[in-house]
Amino acid sequence: RAMAIVRELEEKCGSPEAKLKQVADAMTVEMHAGLASEGGSKLKMLISHVDNLPTGDEEGVYYALDLGGTNFRVLRVELGGKTGGIVSQEFAEASIPPELMVGTSEALFDYIAAELAKFITEEEEKYHPPPGRQRELGFTFSFPVMQNSINSGTLMRWTKGFSIDDMVGNDVVAELSKAMHRQGVDVHVSALVNDTIGTLAGGRFSNKDVAIAVIMGTGTNAAYVERAQAIPKWHGPLPNSGEMVINMEWGNFKSSHLPLTEYDHALDAESLNAGEQVFEKLISGMYLGEILRRVLLRMAEEAAFFGDEVPPKLKTPFVLRTPDMSAMHHDTSADLRVVSNKLKDIFEVSNTTLKTRRAVVELCNIIATRGARLAAAGIFGVLKKMGKDTSTGAEKTVIAMDGGLYEHYTEYRKCLENTLIELLGGDSSSSIAFEHSNDGSGIGAALLAASHSQYRNESS
Ligand code: BG6
Ligand code: GLC
Repeated sequence: RAMAIVRELEEKCGSPEAKLKQVADAMTVEMHAGLASEGGSKLKMLISHVDNLPTGDEEGVYYALDLGGTNFRVLRVELGGKTGGIVSQEFAEASIPPELMVGTSEALFDYIAAELAKFITEEEEKYHPPPGRQRELGFTFSFPVMQNSINSGTLMRWTKGFSIDDMVGNDVVAELSKAMHRQGVDVHVSALVNDTIGTLAGGRFSNKDVAIAVIMGTGTNAAYVERAQAIPKWHGPLPNSGEMVINMEWGNFKSSHLPLTEYDHALDAESLNAGEQVFEKLISGMYLGEILRRVLLRMAEEAAFFGDEVPPKLKTPFVLRTPDMSAMHHDTSADLRVVSNKLKDIFEVSNTTLKTRRAVVELCNIIATRGARLAAAGIFGVLKKMGKDTSTGAEKTVIAMDGGLYEHYTEYRKCLENTLIELLGGDSSSSIAFEHSNDGSGIGAALLAASHSQYRNESS
């Protein structure tokens, strides 16, 4: 009976190439619709106001704040211009106290500003700031924001585990600036960017062929370089570069071709943002372990998978984290010791049989494979929209990747990369490459703060 549930899941999660191509085509269609008009699609296709990616000429000392992944970071980056590259780079990291993710905007921003103030004090004891200049900062804020300019924008809604009602509709930079003022730090926010935009900027700085950035972490999203003329909803002046970077917010993608199961529907219905971020809930790190928990719970309840009693811990949402799922999936020991220990530590079930553990690994594989293949289909859809899905001579397209899922879940990453090659087929696969842009979004935000500095027209 338990194995029947596994087989049923496997069948429902199936993602053969033909289905992935339908998903990719749907992604391309939605991209067009989202670019055509505001609210034209589930895909917001947000205009980032970044029309020039870093060139390598950026110079000076900039701070960056990076909020929205698993960890919160504060950075100081010293840029040395054409010849100097990144002269120095320092950062401090902390996790966001969970109560701040669902509290008030003032509490969250006061916490961030206090961490920044502390960091600046420490850094300025080591490095003396240039006289007569206000400190400048790039803010990576990884949620959907309707930008009014490069350094202002309103929060459209929260995603991932955040839910702070009084913040929705407010200007993110104004909130941060007020909090910094309360903390007594004088900093000018020069750039407000999504993590995908930061990763794209950081990626381009180190590799000129980078044209797409994808985050596979707690949440998931993609950004790419679009032709400004292909954005009907953009009524501003045409940028000199002719280009505009788009934050797709692809986590909110939805299509009838997505292989959704009863577990996904239940997870969505019980989430903080029901009906939203459907793609994200299928493929990103916040949810993979939770999908697995739901399947295991059903197997325990309906097929006594863990014996006569249903382990009470199995009923707690989100107790099974994706890093634990990854550890079980990668267990290479003959008796699946890691799986056994995880089941004991997390669900307090001991004495599992090898057969039970093998079934758990199989479930990890089914759920991770579906997620990774769908993520690859998403990237394939973006490449199609960009006209880069077929090989055009020597031209290379590099995809800057970041996020804990990509970084640490090896089977997932391998599956994602292999599936993209499968979808590209033949020659084109050699013209596409992935590059892990580790923490690139903070550096990217600092680079964009530099290119949008209030002092950029003065000689330094
Ligand atoms: C980090 C980036 O490396 O990855 C962040 O600096 C990004 O900007 C994060 O949000 C995403 O990964 P995760 O796993 O922390 O959600
Ligand atoms: C969520 C956010 C998005 C972010 C992504 C990755 O989908 O809405 O803005 O880029 O997570 O962190």
